[in-house]
Amino acid sequence: MSRERSVTARRAAAPLVRWLGVAALALLLAPMVSSAQILTDEQRSANKVSGGDPALAPDLLLPDKDMAWWRDAKFGIFIHWGLYAIPGRGEWHMFADHVPAEEYAKLAALFRPRHYDPDQWAALAGDAGARYMVMTARHHDGFSLFDSPSSYGHFDSMHSAAGRDLIAPFVTAVRRKGLRVGLYYSPLDWRFPAYFRPKELPDNARLLKQQTWGQVEELMRNYGKIDILWWDGGWLAHQGTDADAAWFWESDRLNRMVRSYQPKIVINPRSGWQGDFDIAEGPAPITGPIRARPWEKTFSLNPAAWGFTPGDNAMSADDVIVLIVNAVVRNGNVLANMSPDPDGVIPPKQVATLRAVGAWLRQNGRAVYGTRPGPLQPVDGVYGTTQKGRSVFVHVLRWPEGGLSLPLEGRIASIRDMSGARVSWQPQPGGIRISAPAHPNQAPVTILEIRRAGS
Ligand code: GLC
Repeated sequence: MSRERSVTARRAAAPLVRWLGVAALALLLAPMVSSAQILTDEQRSANKVSGGDPALAPDLLLPDKDMAWWRDAKFGIFIHWGLYAIPGRGEWHMFADHVPAEEYAKLAALFRPRHYDPDQWAALAGDAGARYMVMTARHHDGFSLFDSPSSYGHFDSMHSAAGRDLIAPFVTAVRRKGLRVGLYYSPLDWRFPAYFRPKELPDNARLLKQQTWGQVEELMRNYGKIDILWWDGGWLAHQGTDADAAWFWESDRLNRMVRSYQPKIVINPRSGWQGDFDIAEGPAPITGPIRARPWEKTFSLNPAAWGFTPGDNAMSADDVIVLIVNAVVRNGNVLANMSPDPDGVIPPKQVATLRAVGAWLRQNGRAVYGTRPGPLQPVDGVYGTTQKGRSVFVHVLRWPEGGLSLPLEGRIASIRDMSGARVSWQPQPGGIRISAPAHPNQAPVTILEIRRAGS
């Protein structure tokens, strides 16, 4: 039986009774708040002025040689998974729906992901053409997917119905698949009143900070080599910037501790320290010139939330491909999020989108992986370029009438499409003009390879 079919069969056999229990509890927990409301709260977070302080501990920045694998990788898979998958109202459910911490904690008794199979997730990421995976070890609700003695009130998967560490098998599976592994960790925890009023509640604030330091140390010490630490929510009370809260978390010392266990780990900017790369969040179109710092576009395939919501809606593969192209021509990577259901099953439409992206990358990956942006600045909505060795790859998003003019200097040996077919072109003042193919603007992107002549 194929993997998908066996998953479908096992899902069908899942006890109805448990689901009824889950649904009843979800109803009890969730006062009627529209999904638009959930989006609003999430949006606030997405729009927060993010990023750490560049003046803080610049010596922590990884040298270029240690960032090279990350810049070559281009595409990663993000996973938002936790107790919030059970009510299925997004990962902001606890806060957005005003669920008291004691009520929310009851979800742990229902968290028994029977179909959690990180090897299958890693296989899917491989099929999608991803080179790394990042999973939420702990989100803002405070529930940890790992064995965490530092967790306040033992709010971890060991003390849930799952009764085991779910991060360890994830790390093993991702490594086994030959992908790089990243962990997401949110220092903020809505269970602590001091998160909202740190100066007024110093004792509670101390506990919150202690938990963050303790848990991050656990993650960095207990799971072998970790390639990426993906911080989120370094701010306080959902206010201001991540850098504004660096005094509280002591982001410089915190990241030094991280590097003492993981000397080459790539760190994102959301702890208050600037990090090794920048982040652009959400599926909005990518525009503008090539960015100087490496950066990552992150968005959820599930348009309703980062966490699981019922309804199985997903972004189209074409939309994801356009974001990948527009990121790589501007020095960026893409981290596309999938949202497993409470049982650990990835919704079928997300799977389909990822498989289609993978099929595209198998044909066009030469123009993506291991390239660098340029030599030409992108023109929004029209084209951008990547380069590697003697090749310049032109990613054409829309063919202008009469062909594509490129201000490309130097001698050209050939121009071909990705199937290897020659494409006709002419020199013109200041560059070249490439003739449009017979049926332009059909695929989301046409990629051409310009081979420059050797000197
Ligand atoms: C935002 C959201 C959070 C999500 C993150 C992913 O910060 O608050 O829920 O995990 O984006 O980038």
